[in-house]
Amino acid sequence: MQRDRYVDELKQFLAIPSISALPEHQGDVRRAAEWTADQMRHIGLQNVKLMETPGNPIVYGDWLNAPGAPTILFYGHYDVQPVDPVELWESPPFEATVRDGELYARGAADDKGQVFMHLKAVEAYMKNAGGLPLNMKFFIEGEEEVGSAHLDEFVHANKPLLAADVVVISDTAMIGKGVPSICYGLRGLVYYQIDLRGTKSDLHSGVFGGAVANPAFVLCQLIAQMKDKGGRVKIPGFYDDVRPLTDAEREEWKKLPFNEKSYRKELGAPKLTGETGYTVYERTWGRPTFEVNGLLSGFTGEGPKTVIAAVAMAKVSMRLVPDQTPEKIGALFEQYMKKVAPKTVELKLTRMHGGMPWMAGFDDPFLRAAGRAVEKGFGKAPVFNREGGSIPVVATFQQALGVPSVLFGVGLPDENAHAPNEKLDLGNFHGGIISSAYLYQEIAQLRPSGESHG
Ligand code: BES
Ligand code: MN
Ligand code: MN
Repeated sequence: MQRDRYVDELKQFLAIPSISALPEHQGDVRRAAEWTADQMRHIGLQNVKLMETPGNPIVYGDWLNAPGAPTILFYGHYDVQPVDPVELWESPPFEATVRDGELYARGAADDKGQVFMHLKAVEAYMKNAGGLPLNMKFFIEGEEEVGSAHLDEFVHANKPLLAADVVVISDTAMIGKGVPSICYGLRGLVYYQIDLRGTKSDLHSGVFGGAVANPAFVLCQLIAQMKDKGGRVKIPGFYDDVRPLTDAEREEWKKLPFNEKSYRKELGAPKLTGETGYTVYERTWGRPTFEVNGLLSGFTGEGPKTVIAAVAMAKVSMRLVPDQTPEKIGALFEQYMKKVAPKTVELKLTRMHGGMPWMAGFDDPFLRAAGRAVEKGFGKAPVFNREGGSIPVVATFQQALGVPSVLFGVGLPDENAHAPNEKLDLGNFHGGIISSAYLYQEIAQLRPSGESHG
């Protein structure tokens, strides 16, 4: 059966540990790029090539034999997140395993499985109709999970190659099982490493405790000043550019299926929290936030050790909403940190990756076309939602190419992306293949912009 073959092939893709964050996996990252290119050739895409960047290669392939029809630029990523803590995986992360209709593997949902869904939709279209109903360009990158550092430059340098009428991305989730979803908004991101130094070396905490600053303690004090009790970020000016949620949007979101109790239980959280006056969807989709992603200081091994660490480190990030920008929020964060940090420690701030928030027009014709396609593919009208995660290149495509994006994803909130036991619901995978084929058909019926074929 085709379905079994699709899953078997996807398992091969998932077997390649293309972890972009870890240098020891560089070879695997390249192997995944080559595998993707071979797969593209195999299904009948043309001009397939690896395009080098200063980092990992981009895999490009196209099929441009539908003159007069619109052009889709499909974007996805073949790189995956690290797998630690690996002992918490119920089956090995790179030996994809089916249990209860779910395919477990790193990258199953984010994003290899969803990229593969489109490759199979193209393959099926080619086989059954002898070609595609429109033009397609595939653009699959290998640095998404580490912030796509080389992507903006690549997009700007390759505008004619990437010219299209619409970008299609499947790298998001449905809001619940059996609730097909089209995403029309993403949060942006600005990420920092904070380094504090108190002294030139670690100290005996009995001999020196009380006379010098303790960087671990100071770090906690600094972080404690980032949010007030009501969950509001205390950085002055942080909310200045936040576009308020409209009453209409809040009303729509209230109608979406959501059960706060099962959400809490699913997460294993004793109690939920967040900005006062907002619902969970509003907090995660429509409001900015400040998060601590990691902390490191002092002695964390077995047993006690009486020490004052010389240094303390934290990784923090802020999720942004329209019309905040990583530049402005980053500058406000730096100012505030410098103001609140005591003179007793040396403070170093290193800005890491980031990206702009994004929101589509609610009545965008491509968004509506995706709605019709998903309804045909899943037999159920989709909901339109925003997401809390970030895909920075979406804003780049808009700015650099002037091309709108359609985000149709088949992940699920419990897919365990970036966590142990990542999985993809196979019903969603197969429904996604059918929906993707319908999406090409629906977009083919819209007018091309007329000046886009590079
Ligand atoms: N697929 C996710 C983005 C995503 C997740 C969108 C959930 C919507 C809902 C992507 O692979 C990702 O993890 N993005 C990073 C961005 C960062 C590395 C610049 C993120 O959101 O943290
Ligand atoms: Mn992703
Ligand atoms: Mn991801």
